This record gives sequence, C-alpha cells and structure tokens, in this order.
Amino acid sequence: LSGTFATLLAIRLLLSFRSQPKLVPPGPRPLPLLGNLLQVDLKRQHESLFSLSKTYGPVFTVYFGPKKVVVLAGSKTVRQALINYAEEFGDRDMNPLFYDLTEGHGIIFANGESWKEMRRFSLTTLRDFGMGKRLSEEKIIEECHFLIEEFEQHKGEAFDNAKIMTFAASNIISAIMFGKRFEYEDKVFQDMVERDLESNLLAGSAAVTLYNFFPWLGPYLKAWRDLMRNMDINKQHTRNIIAKLKETLNPDICRGFVDVFCTRMKNLEHETQKLHYHDDNLVSSVINLFGAGTDTTAKTLSWSLLYMAKYPQIQDQVQEELSRVVGVRQVQTEDRKNLPFVNAVIHETQRLANIVPMAILHQTSKDITFQGYFIPKGTTVLPLLTSVLYDESEWETPNTFNPSHFLDEEGNFIKRDAFLPFSAGRRVCLGEGLARVELFLFFTTLLQHFRFTPPPGISEDELDLKPVVGFTLHPTPHRLCAIRRQCQSEGIFPPDTS
Ligand code: HEM
Repeated sequence: LSGTFATLLAIRLLLSFRSQPKLVPPGPRPLPLLGNLLQVDLKRQHESLFSLSKTYGPVFTVYFGPKKVVVLAGSKTVRQALINYAEEFGDRDMNPLFYDLTEGHGIIFANGESWKEMRRFSLTTLRDFGMGKRLSEEKIIEECHFLIEEFEQHKGEAFDNAKIMTFAASNIISAIMFGKRFEYEDKVFQDMVERDLESNLLAGSAAVTLYNFFPWLGPYLKAWRDLMRNMDINKQHTRNIIAKLKETLNPDICRGFVDVFCTRMKNLEHETQKLHYHDDNLVSSVINLFGAGTDTTAKTLSWSLLYMAKYPQIQDQVQEELSRVVGVRQVQTEDRKNLPFVNAVIHETQRLANIVPMAILHQTSKDITFQGYFIPKGTTVLPLLTSVLYDESEWETPNTFNPSHFLDEEGNFIKRDAFLPFSAGRRVCLGEGLARVELFLFFTTLLQHFRFTPPPGISEDELDLKPVVGFTLHPTPHRLCAIRRQCQSEGIFPPDTS
C-alpha cells in the first residue's frame, strides 16, 4: 500500500512540476512603448541598473523601449552565467548599432562560425606578433620611451595626458597589426585616433542608445550621423593602409596581422575555410582590435595616473617598491611577481575605474533555465560588470581606492574571483594578455621616471574622480604635472643633462 501511495505522490509531484508556469525574471513594470526608460538614466545606465538590481535581485528584466534585456548582477551570478553556462550566454546581441559598425563581420559584433574562426585566428596571430611575451615587451618598452619624451617636453607643467596615452596604446596595436608604429604627429594616425575617441563617446550617448531601440530615429539623431561618419572615414583609412601593405606583401616576411591574414586568403585551399577569409572580415577585425585595444588600455592608464596624483601616499609606496626591487634598470614583465604592491595598485585601478561597466551586450544561444528563471534563446543579456567590481559582498570598501583588496596580511598579492574587468567565459576579452602586459610596463616605467601631482594651486581633494560616460568610462578631462624624478633625491635616475 505504501508503495502505491509513494508512486501516486511521485506522479502528482511530477505533474504539478510540469504544469508550473515558466518563471520570468522580475523587473520594474514596463510602460507601453517606453518600457522602463523612465527608470533607467540613459546617461548613466550602469548606475541605474546597479541600483535596480538591489530591488529586483541578481537576474532581472528591463525594457529599453520595446526591447527586453535580462540583466545579470553581482559577482556570483555573473560568473555563474558566463563561466558555468558559457555557451548558453555566449552569443553577441546583434542590435542595430552593432550591425551598422561591422555588418556582422570581424570579432566583436559577430556570431557563429565566422566569429569562431576570426577569434581563433586573431588569438593565434596576436600571440605570434604581440602577446607572445618577448615581442610585445620589446614593442611596449620602445613605446614607453616615446611616451617619456613626450611627457618630458612639458617640463613639469600641467597637461592632459589623455590623447598621448591613446597614441601610445594605439601604436602597440599598430605594430601588431601593420608591423609598424606611427609618429605621434602623423596626420592620418591622429585623425584615426581622434575619430575613435569621439566615436567612443558617441556610442555611449543617450541618443545612440535610443537609436538602438528605435532605429527609425537614426537619420534624425546628430550623434548617430556623426558616429557613422567617423566609422566610415576610419574604415577608409584602414582600407588604405591595408591596400599599401598588400602591394608590398611578401609571404616570407610577415610584418603583422594583416600580412598573415592576406597570405592565408591566398593560400587556403578548402572552400569552407575560404568562406571566412575575405576583405570584410579582415577590415572589420582590424577595426575591432584597434577599437577594443586602444581606448580601454589608454583610459585605464590615465585613471592610474589620476589615482596616483590623488593618493600621494600610495604613489610613495609604488615608487618605494619600484626603487627597492627594480632600481634604475628598465622594468620587465618578469618583475611583476616581485612587485606585489604595484600589482595590487594596477588591479585596484582596473576595479575602481570599471572601464567597461556593462561588458558588451550578449545574447542567449539556446533556451536556458538559470537560477530558476526561464530565458529563451535569442534574449539580450547584459552582464553588469559594475555590479561585480563594486559587489559589496566581495570588496571591503567597494567605493574607495584600496590596493589592500589585492593584498594579504603579509603584503603578498592575492587573486580575487570578483576581479572581472575583462569579463569572462566565451566572450572574455581577447586582448586580456596584451592589455595586462601593457598596463604593467607603461605604468611602472612612467612611475619610475615621473612623480604625478595636481596642477599648482589645486589640491588632491579637488581632483575629480567622476567618470565621463561613453562606451567606456573615461576620467573627466583634467591636467596633471609629470615631474621628472632625480637621482639625488630619490636614488632613481641620473639627472637629465641634455
Ligand atoms: C571584449 C575589456 C583591452 C580586444 C572585451 C570585453 C571587455 C573587455 C569587458 C567584453 C567581453 C564580453 O562581451 O563579455 C577590456 C579591458 C581592456 C581591454 C578592460 C584593457 C584594459 C583589449 C585589447 C584588445 C582587446 C588590448 C586587443 C588587442 C577585445 C576583443 C573583444 C573584447 C576583440 C571582443 C571579444 C569577442 O567578442 O569574442 N574587452 N579589453 N581588448 N576585447 Fe577587450
């Protein structure tokens, strides 16, 4: 009798389970047409979404106009989704803006077999031409010296380092892509970098966000028209550079990414592989790597110098460790393991600066039930990296610059799971390895040579840490003094006798 009862109970449970409605992630009630646009400040979306997550939990729905977006918030949830369900959460959302940028070609705004092949190819080629430790180290160190010269020209007077940092970071990608760096005065180079900078701001503007949800608005929005114009001009610059490289292509001497790609285009025999090696994928991949690899690294470096000027005691500790461990010679990547405080400062810079606060929109590649919620295939997903990097349950003082987040009691560097500025999983930043080497070498070399301070008459307290919101978070335009360190006072470098 008890066996029959147990069977009936099991069947009943099964039936009740099967008939349960699928649970949809909660969220604020949307209005017709507007969705939740009244609850989300389009100029500071990441902050609005972070505060909504405190009301609706780690998986919630918001409507940007008619567009439904599932937001993932908090370290545990974002990591669980991107790492444990990497495939399910690993497609890219193909919204109108992303499509306009590269029409589904390249790496960042692409999906399927073409994306897989381009990502694989880029990783391998970047490893051979840049991320392979020795090569990238040489290129970065060479660029550091140009940067130092530029800084020195200001003779300790206050200046805005934003543009020069962007030139330096851009030159590392140029060397990897084209096999050459540009002079900072090169007009085409300047135009490309400046258009990229402006495009970054435009892409994160409220107007362009609106375009994504109401694409018919496009022609009426100046921001969108300017963005498209910048993109077209930069595409043409890139095509011109590639055309010149093609004219002088010698498969025996590959100068960089473009040469390897072009040689592959010529030599491939299988039609299926040829499918992905065409000019559109080449141009879009180059544009993607420039776009993703320049602004992020440059802005992180600008943040790092701003934090040093703002917190002079931390700058003292950085310079003390550098003097003690490295002395006057050039810093090498190898030194990182012996520089725990410096390493912690760079990590804390990336955490607090929170450069890419909302990652880049993902999309589910199949139906998934996640944390009890049903999320159908094709749903737009926003991994809110801000909520990971500022997660109160992970960081002792999430809103303040505190390198101790990455140090144990003995002062050893510690890795933290919630350190996710490069995102995670299938779409994790492709340039993470390169970016880490760049940040380390640029930051340490600059700090070896210069002391960073606010301009005369401005106190550390007055330095503004509020970010300007674009596609990435920039420091508010500001000026700092880069004062050459002297050997007499600090035991570092011989005085400049030139
Ligand atoms: C994607 C951060 C530097 C190339 C991303 C994403 C983030 C990110 C958050 C989005 C991941 C996602 O969608 O979940 C950063 C930061 C950098 C940096 C903080 C520097 C401090 C670089 C560099 C390169 C690069 C130097 C190129 C050499 C890319 C590419 C993608 C990407 C190609 C798209 C990957 C894909 O869709 O498969 N990055 N990035 N990034 N990043 Fe970076």
